[in-house]
Amino acid sequence: MVIPCTPAGSMLTGSCPIMPKAGSFPAHADLGAILVSEVAIKRRLKKLGEEIMATYGNEEITAISIINGAIIFTAGLLREIRNPVRLDCIRITSYRNETKSIGKPQILHSLTLDISDRHVLLIDDILDTGKTLAMVVQVIKKLGPASVRTCVLLEKDGRREVGFEPDFVGFKIPDKFVVGYGLDFAERYRNLPCIGVLKAHLQNPPEWA
Ligand code: IMP
Ligand code: MG
Repeated sequence: MVIPCTPAGSMLTGSCPIMPKAGSFPAHADLGAILVSEVAIKRRLKKLGEEIMATYGNEEITAISIINGAIIFTAGLLREIRNPVRLDCIRITSYRNETKSIGKPQILHSLTLDISDRHVLLIDDILDTGKTLAMVVQVIKKLGPASVRTCVLLEKDGRREVGFEPDFVGFKIPDKFVVGYGLDFAERYRNLPCIGVLKAHLQNPPEWA
């Protein structure tokens, strides 16, 4: 059954004054370039969902989202997957309010679900140096899962410091610091519906960082 919905704050007829029009999202003004559009993301998520369903067949998937960065991607991706899914999150920190790595990723909050003998799909926003995913995969493997696969929305070109090959990749992008669709700069811009590069003068930690 489909229940008809109306966007919050709008009326059944007429336009909604508080909903920004497509393409006029206010924070877009801070982007110097859009690398992946909202439409391209939606299309790719559908295909990624198909790839993942084809790989897992009828198996149940235990999805583990690396938060905060992978929150938005995980939410979009899981709705394209029709397997039974359990969801857990793991909180890692590897970047601060800068566009450069601070070195070693650390686990801030670990899993709550038991993943032994489960098929784990680890989901992250971006594969950059590879340190985060390599470390989390190692931790997960020690917990005795039936399998571990990894899925990233973005794979950054020419940045790998540890050998790591993700199983599913949304987009390969050039070596630029990007924001949007979950990716942040000093915790801002995660809510942008597309992925882009900040204008140069906004790429240094500003006063609010
Ligand atoms: P890695 O451990 O170097 O692969 O870094 C992975 C993490 O760094 C990701 O989960 C992101 O949170 C963050 N990161 C790497 N590149 C970017 C970027 O271009 N924009 C925003 N966050 C990034
Ligand atoms: Mg981040």
